[in-house]
Amino acid sequence: MFARLNVNIDHVATVRQARRAAEPSVVAAAMICEQAGADGITVHLRGDRRHIQDRDLADLRRVVTTYLNVEMAATEEMMRIAAEVHPDAVTLVAERPGEVTTEGGLDVVANFEAVRACVGRLRDHGIIASLFVDPENEQLEAARAAGAHQVELCTAAYAEATQPPAGFHPETQARIGHELDRLRRAAALAAGYGLRVAAGHGLTCRNVVAVASIPEIEEFNIGHNIIARAVLVGLDRAVHEMIDSIRRGRSARA
Ligand code: PXP
Repeated sequence: MFARLNVNIDHVATVRQARRAAEPSVVAAAMICEQAGADGITVHLRGDRRHIQDRDLADLRRVVTTYLNVEMAATEEMMRIAAEVHPDAVTLVAERPGEVTTEGGLDVVANFEAVRACVGRLRDHGIIASLFVDPENEQLEAARAAGAHQVELCTAAYAEATQPPAGFHPETQARIGHELDRLRRAAALAAGYGLRVAAGHGLTCRNVVAVASIPEIEEFNIGHNIIARAVLVGLDRAVHEMIDSIRRGRSARA
C-alpha cells in the first residue's frame, strides 16, 4: 500500500489574505487536490489566523469528501472549534507567536496533562487525535500514554539536511542518513506501540522519496512544496507529481 497524501493548502489562504480578497478560494483548491488524487486536505488554524480563517473550516467541512485534518494548538479555544467543525482528524501542534512556520514537534512530555486532556476531548467527539512530534522515543512514549491514535513525525531536521546546496558532500550525506535513521526508528517504535504513523514538514518531490520507503509511514502532510510548484505548473500537476514521488519511494522499498 502507498502512503496517503494530505495536501496542506494553508498557502492558498496566505495568498488570499495578502489582499484580504476572495481569491484564491481554498474550497476550489481542495477540490482540485481531491480530483488530482490527494487522499485528504490539511489546514492549520493558527491562533493569529494569518492564513486559514474560521469560516474556511466550515466551508471545507462541507466540501471535502476525502479526509479533513486540522492542525491546531492544544488550547481551550481550539478544542471548542474542533468539536464544532468536527474534522476527521485533529493534529495537535506547538505554536509560537511570531514563528514563520511550525518550528518543531509538540513537547508532549512537558505538556503531558494538557495534551492528554485534549486527546480525551477529541476522542469523545469521535475525532482522530494525532500529535505532531519530533522523532524521539520519549515523545512517542508520551503520545501513547496520552491516548493518541496517531503521531505525525516532524521531518524538519531531515528536510533541512537535504536543502541545497546539500550536494554529495560526505558530511551532508551522513547527516541525511542520520536523520533518515531517526525517522525509521521512530516510525517502527510508534507502529509497535499501535500508533498510526504520519510524517510531514519541509518535504519536497525530491526528499520525500527516501521517507516514503519507510514502511510504517501511512500518511504524508505536505504543503509548501506543492503550492510553490503549483504557482508555476498548476495545482493538479503539482499534486500528481507529489503522489508519483511518494509511490516511487514505496516501490523502491518493494
Ligand atoms: N505537518 C505539520 C504538523 C505542519 O505544521 C506543517 C506546516 O504547516 C506541515 C505538515 C506541512 O509542512 P510543509 O508546508 O513544509 O510541507
